[in-house]
Amino acid sequence: MAFGVLPPRLNCIADKVPPGSVVADIGTDHAYLPIGLVLSGRSPRAIGSDTKRAPLAAAAANIVDAGVAGQVEIREGTGLSVLTPGEVDVVVIAGLGGVLTCRILEADPAVRFSVERFILQPMIGVEVVRRWIDDNQLKLADEDLVEDEGRLYEVIVAEPRTGSLPAPDDPHGLGPEVIDLVGPLLLKRGHPLLRRHVETKLGQFRKALEELRQAKAPRSAEVRARYQRIADGLAEVLRCLPKS
Ligand SMILES: C[S@@+](CC[C@H](N)C(=O)[O-])C[C@H]1O[C@@H](n2cnc3c(N)ncnc32)[C@H](O)[C@@H]1O
Repeated sequence: MAFGVLPPRLNCIADKVPPGSVVADIGTDHAYLPIGLVLSGRSPRAIGSDTKRAPLAAAAANIVDAGVAGQVEIREGTGLSVLTPGEVDVVVIAGLGGVLTCRILEADPAVRFSVERFILQPMIGVEVVRRWIDDNQLKLADEDLVEDEGRLYEVIVAEPRTGSLPAPDDPHGLGPEVIDLVGPLLLKRGHPLLRRHVETKLGQFRKALEELRQAKAPRSAEVRARYQRIADGLAEVLRCLPKS
């Protein structure tokens, strides 16, 4: 990959960084995102962190090759612990699971409360992150879907919230489980990739239900009922969407 030319998933994340922001990319791996942000002029400075030596070594080499060693710094350590409060405007956590993303956000409240914007791109369990945001004095400021090499990715932007949570926007009575799965802003704004996104989720729940039916040691009726309720809700979303 040519430095500065980001693949669609990372480019979608970069687009959500307000120009002029200092950014920390937690779990940076190759450091493509901080390098791209600095090369494009969107960020004056960026920090990339990782817990593992091999990605850190690759990131350090890439930063030198890209000629941004003065503006992109690499740090070793877990989650937000590599940062001091107020040091960055924006934190990106991309490519991790939803539960780990929430654990990282939870672990360092002093840093977390100083950040103006989180850009989160969990690979799985995005609904867990949406719930966590609502429960932890943040608000969903933006949501996006992006296709990269045939797969859809969900990108979530969260910002500090003052005051209580507004009433959920749920004109079809879908309930929080289904809305958290689909994404309230994706739903409200009718994202162009929404139908495919919902079809993918519905396919996953139908497959899980089928596996539960065939399982030798069946899970509880409660779990099956929950999956069925969600699948019905997702099917209802599809019925309400305009045909593409
Ligand atoms: C799948 S890669 C994602 C790389 C990049 N963020 C992206 O989206 O392309 C995940 C990276 O996160 C790192 N990682 C895992 N847990 C972490 C943690 N608690 N804190 C910082 N980095 C972590 C891994 O070592 C790995 O390099």
